Amino acid sequence: MSNFPEMRLRRLRRSEALRALIRETKVDVGDLIYPIFVVEGNKKKQGITSMPGQYRFSCDLLPKEVEDIAKLGIPAVILFGIPKKKDEVGSQAYHSKGVIQQAIRAIKKATPELVVITDVCLCEYTSHGHCGVVVNVDVDNDKTLELLAKTALSHAQAGADMIAPSDMMDGRVKAIRQALDGNGFQNIPIMAYAAKYASGFYGPFREAAESTPQFGDRRSYQMDPPNWREALREVEQDIAEGADIVMVKPALPYLDVIRKVRDTFNYPLAAYSVSGEYAMVKAAAQQGWLDEKRIVLEMLTAIKRAGADIIITYYAKEAARWL
Ligand code: PBG
Repeated sequence: MSNFPEMRLRRLRRSEALRALIRETKVDVGDLIYPIFVVEGNKKKQGITSMPGQYRFSCDLLPKEVEDIAKLGIPAVILFGIPKKKDEVGSQAYHSKGVIQQAIRAIKKATPELVVITDVCLCEYTSHGHCGVVVNVDVDNDKTLELLAKTALSHAQAGADMIAPSDMMDGRVKAIRQALDGNGFQNIPIMAYAAKYASGFYGPFREAAESTPQFGDRRSYQMDPPNWREALREVEQDIAEGADIVMVKPALPYLDVIRKVRDTFNYPLAAYSVSGEYAMVKAAAQQGWLDEKRIVLEMLTAIKRAGADIIITYYAKEAARWL
């Protein structure tokens, strides 16, 4: 039943000022988290082939990088470490002088106001590239929990402001919460990668973090892409175990999941616009096939419109300049 010509939706689209007045969703630089890759050594700023414009920094070069990030108004970074030595149990992940523990200290010293979030997972630290301890060609859930809790605690001890487990083991939020609380870190929040899918969109990240599994894949722990009801159970479970912020990952191909989680839970919701999303847009933009600024701002707006409060994005620095 149309009430045209009385109703004309175009009336409020006639100028930018009118459009701004009725705009329903806005992206703010304060919503963004920027991911940083850290390597061991000195004076290293290594470009990542499949992610043009992204680098792996050694700790000595971090202060300048994070000062720039803070100046842009970006409130938080999330850190990924690439150790020199990898082993079966990822022991560099929880070493007090590991690459991430050093990076946390360097960043907190340079920019104390910047929120330092650490990705907690073992895949960058294990020789086999899986996110936990491998027993009989599969990741052993409960053996892995202990190491994840140790890793999280070592991050908090180094000065991390927030812990973000991305491994997808059952019970990891609870194990990490207990380890933090038992050691005086009851005020450190957990941002759980709650609905993390086994996605092809992580390809460029695995080049950046050298975390490609040496055999098999991650389908026995990360979620099966067709499922959304299961995503709600993952989120419910992580909240029950003590998560303060929940996450859906990837973002763009999973906007429906973001919307479902937003409508079901009253918790802060983060979305991770992953490496493959960045690489796709960058590649097309470099070819001159699409307008990068316009596409990126449209993507970020869509992710917020779907219901995310927080967006983790490799485009954070560029977006901060464009917004
Ligand atoms: C570690 C981890 C991954 C990402 C974030 N944390 C890789 C994976 O699970 O294989 C992906 C991030 C991205 O693609 O940008 N488990």
